Amino acid sequence: VVSAVHTPVLLEEVIEWLRIRPDGTYVDATVGLGGHAVEIAKRLTTGRLIGMDRDAQALELARERLSEFGERVTLVHARFSRIDEVMRELHAGADGVLADLGVSSLQLDLPERGFAFRFAGPLDMRMDSAEARTTAGIVNYWPEKDLANLIYRYGEERDSRRIARAIVRARPIRDTEHLATVVAGVKTPWGRQKLQHAATKTFLALRIAVNDELEELERLLEKTPATLNAHGRWVMLTYHSLEDRLVKRAFQEQARRGMLRVLTKKVQRPSAVEVQRNPRARSAKLRAAERLPAAAESSERQ
Ligand SMILES: C[S@@+](CC[C@H](N)C(=O)[O-])C[C@H]1O[C@@H](n2cnc3c(N)ncnc32)[C@H](O)[C@@H]1O
Repeated sequence: VVSAVHTPVLLEEVIEWLRIRPDGTYVDATVGLGGHAVEIAKRLTTGRLIGMDRDAQALELARERLSEFGERVTLVHARFSRIDEVMRELHAGADGVLADLGVSSLQLDLPERGFAFRFAGPLDMRMDSAEARTTAGIVNYWPEKDLANLIYRYGEERDSRRIARAIVRARPIRDTEHLATVVAGVKTPWGRQKLQHAATKTFLALRIAVNDELEELERLLEKTPATLNAHGRWVMLTYHSLEDRLVKRAFQEQARRGMLRVLTKKVQRPSAVEVQRNPRARSAKLRAAERLPAAAESSERQ
C-alpha cells in the first residue's frame, strides 16, 4: 500500500493568487497527490474542482484523499495538453487553473517508477505507465550524438558529450543506479553544481524527453486562456529554467494580445523557511495571471 504525502509548494501563495470563490469552478491540471487540491476544495461551497493527472497511480491516491468532498470533485486521467477538450466535455469554464509542474513525491520516492538515481530502479520515468517511451529506450538505443544533444538541451548540462559517450560505452545500462554511476564517473563538478548529485541534470533531461514535458507545457500554455472565464485566475508553478522561460514568454505574449493581465510583476520564490522545511520547494517559481474579459481582447487588437 502506498501512502505517499506530497507537501504542496507555495501553498499560501497559490491559494491567494487563485482568489477562490466558494461557488467557482477550479482546475488543478496536475492534481498529483492532491496537496493543493484539498486546500482548494475546502474553500468551495457550491463550487467545483476538476483535477487532472496523467499518472493513474497518483490519481487513485488523490481520489481517496478528496473523497470527503464528494461530487464537488471530478478527477480525470488525462494529459494537461487536453485541458480544453476536458473542459468542453464537462461543459465547464474555469474561474481558476493551477498547474504545479514536474514530478510528485510518489514518483520520486518509489524506486519502481525509475525517477530516482539514489537507488536502483528500472529505467522507466514514465509519468503515465501506459505510454510507450521509457528511459531504457533512450539510454540503450539512441545514437550517441542524439543522446548528447538531448542531455545538453533539456538538462542544460555542459558535460553532455562526455556523458553520452560514457553511456554508450557502458551499454546495456541496467538500472537507474547503474546510469547514475556511469554519469558520475565522467562528470566534472562545476562551482555550485557540487551541491547537486552529478546525475541530476542528466536525469532531468531524460525525464523531460520520456514525458514530452516541454511540448505538453507549450500546449497547456496555448490552451488554458480559452478555458478561463472572464477574471479567472491562472497560477503556474515551475521547477527549472526551461519551464519558467516558457511560462514567462507565454504570459507576456498573451498580455500583449489583451487576453491576460500578469499579476506577478516579478517571479515569486519560496521563503528560506519553506525551503528548509521542504527541500523540494527550493527551485520553485510561481507566476500568476488573470484572464481579461473578451471585450478587452478585441479592443486591444484594433
Ligand atoms: C509536482 S506534482 C503535483 C503535486 C500536487 N500539486 C500536490 O500538491 O500533491 C506534478 C504532477 O503533475 C503530473 N503531470 C506532469 N505532467 C503532466 C501532464 N503533461 N499532464 C498531466 N499531468 C501531468 C505528474 O504526474 C505529477 O503527479
